[in-house]
Amino acid sequence: MSITTLVSTCLWFLLVSRFAGANEVNVNCLRSIKSQVIDPKRSLSSWAFRNVNATYICSFIGVECWDADRDRVLKMNLSGYGLQGEFPQGLNDCSSLTGLDLSRNNFSGAVPSNIASLIPFVTTLDLSYNQFSGEIPTDLSNVTFLNTLMLQHNQFTGQLPPELASLKRLKEFSVAYNHLTGPVPEFNEALGIGPESFANNTGLCGLPMDSCIEQEEKVIRFGKMGAVIGAAVFAPVGFTCADEANVNCLRSIKSQVKDPNGYLTSWVFGNETAGYICKFTGVTCWHDDENRVLSIELSGFGLEGEFPQGIKECSDLTGLYLARNNFSGVLPYNIASLIPSVTILDLSDNQFSGEIPTSLSNITLLNSLTLRHNQFTGQLPHELSSLQRLKILSVAYNQLTGPIPKFNEQHLKIGVDDFANNEGLCGRPMDACADPDEDMIRFGKMGAAVGAALFAPLVAFLDSFVFNGRKQKQGDI
Ligand SMILES: *[C@@H]1O[C@H](CO)[C@@H](O)[C@H](O)[C@H]1NC(C)=O
Ligand SMILES: *[C@@H]1O[C@H](CO)[C@@H](O)[C@H](O)[C@H]1NC(C)=O
Ligand SMILES: *[C@@H]1O[C@H](CO)[C@@H](O)[C@H](O)[C@H]1NC(C)=O
Ligand SMILES: *[C@@H]1O[C@H](CO)[C@@H](O)[C@H](O)[C@H]1NC(C)=O
Ligand SMILES: *[C@@H]1O[C@H](CO)[C@@H](O)[C@H](O)[C@H]1NC(C)=O
Ligand SMILES: *[C@@H]1O[C@H](CO)[C@@H](O)[C@H](O)[C@H]1NC(C)=O
Ligand SMILES: *[C@@H]1O[C@H](CO)[C@@H](O)[C@H](O)[C@H]1NC(C)=O
Ligand SMILES: *[C@@H]1O[C@H](CO)[C@@H](O)[C@H](O)[C@H]1NC(C)=O
Repeated sequence: MSITTLVSTCLWFLLVSRFAGANEVNVNCLRSIKSQVIDPKRSLSSWAFRNVNATYICSFIGVECWDADRDRVLKMNLSGYGLQGEFPQGLNDCSSLTGLDLSRNNFSGAVPSNIASLIPFVTTLDLSYNQFSGEIPTDLSNVTFLNTLMLQHNQFTGQLPPELASLKRLKEFSVAYNHLTGPVPEFNEALGIGPESFANNTGLCGLPMDSCIEQEEKVIRFGKMGAVIGAAVFAPVGFTCADEANVNCLRSIKSQVKDPNGYLTSWVFGNETAGYICKFTGVTCWHDDENRVLSIELSGFGLEGEFPQGIKECSDLTGLYLARNNFSGVLPYNIASLIPSVTILDLSDNQFSGEIPTSLSNITLLNSLTLRHNQFTGQLPHELSSLQRLKILSVAYNQLTGPIPKFNEQHLKIGVDDFANNEGLCGRPMDACADPDEDMIRFGKMGAAVGAALFAPLVAFLDSFVFNGRKQKQGDI
């Protein structure tokens, strides 16, 4: 046997075994899908795993291969087959899949939280018109080639993962007709995703829908209406309680702060008229004839003293403005339980000191947090980066040190001005941190780089494979 023959035999053997391996895996993929789904209409009866002909799976109904003589599944379209059961996890063996259409069936249960590892290269995913439920998994944002994502007409609940906005190739998208709530991800407007993609959900808000602040008002108003009905049923007691709590709130604020300039002299308690506290300087109510405080604006009054803890009883408060006063002392460690629904908190230009409480990260509706020009010390709690709605943040002119939390900068635009004039804040948008942690991070990164070098050949192989496949299938995707 000549050397050439030997080499080519080896090559042939290598290729065959490689394809035989792929073949096996793709067959297993379909086999496990067939065993995982319930098929009352016997739509998949053509999926028979007896044949040994290498390309037989490519003739299965709903299955399309990369090309006729290679049994790698390119796309699967099982739309309208009356299938039931959960999302078929066996799909992860169809490792070259680029399209998956399971629409118009009766699939149910949650979409797997590791979906990106099951269908990493899929460009079209259509799960519409099923009974899928639970939350839409954040991991979908890791299916980076997606250009069509259809999830409408299901039973999804919870919020939309803001990370979906990172899907750069998205062209078609819908989550209409589900039970979703909360803010819409900030998709690039150039994608032209319109309100119909989000319609008929429980309460999605933000562009292209209504603003989230209006939504919150509606929710709170609705809640209030519920309370009024409750009050009517349970006699005047419930009603008076809520009123009384808001009056007590302002009463305790007045007793807790020093007011050297007499700005709070209009705050006189004991009037029987409904909504009388709404005429107090700096107080805005939800309705003028109801003692329920919407926001408190006491900026520039020269007030002194500590953060007024009595504010807890203004339980529907959405805005608190205490800027440009002489407030001092530490912020309550449990501040989120005092002002849980506040969307705007402005404490700038005071003498507040001590650490910025981690509890602020539990005021989940916060849109704007300004703490500039105080005497805050210590580090910024990294948990602040979990505030999904934060649009404005400033902590400039304090004595803060250490790393700046890693904010999602697609939502929160941060600039140097927001962090300037502190003792030593570091990390984006300021200078990089130069502490020992940094070395750990670098070391970690180096580890990743070595890993990447090892895997590069594999990635290159996959790339060329995908590329060739694309050429053969031009116009399909
Ligand atoms: C393999 O199966 C397909 C579909 O069943 C058929 O069209 C093709 O002719 C078969 N090829 C061989 C070599 O048997
Ligand atoms: C799947 O097949 C249906 C018809 O059976 C078709 O309407 C739909 O467009 C197909 N899906 C994809 C992604 O091509
Ligand atoms: C889903 O199942 C119900 C009954 O369980 C049936 O009436 C309906 O037609 C099915 N829907 C689809 C799209 O198969
Ligand atoms: C996306 O993938 C990265 C890298 O594999 C992983 O660390 C991250 O947890 C994934 N994201 C989600 C939401 O699963
Ligand atoms: C869907 O929403 C639109 C606009 O909000 C509304 O007119 C329509 O009645 C809704 N459809 C259903 C079935 O709820
Ligand atoms: C109670 O408040 C109302 C509305 O502010 C005012 O018109 C009225 O004079 C007040 N009554 C007393 C007794 O202060
Ligand atoms: C704070 O108090 C000091 C004196 O105690 C006073 O000079 C200053 O004007 C006050 N600042 C504000 C904003 O009221
Ligand atoms: C935030 O709220 C959760 C749930 O109420 C609680 O377990 C956690 O301790 C709070 N975190 C802070 C920092 O207060």
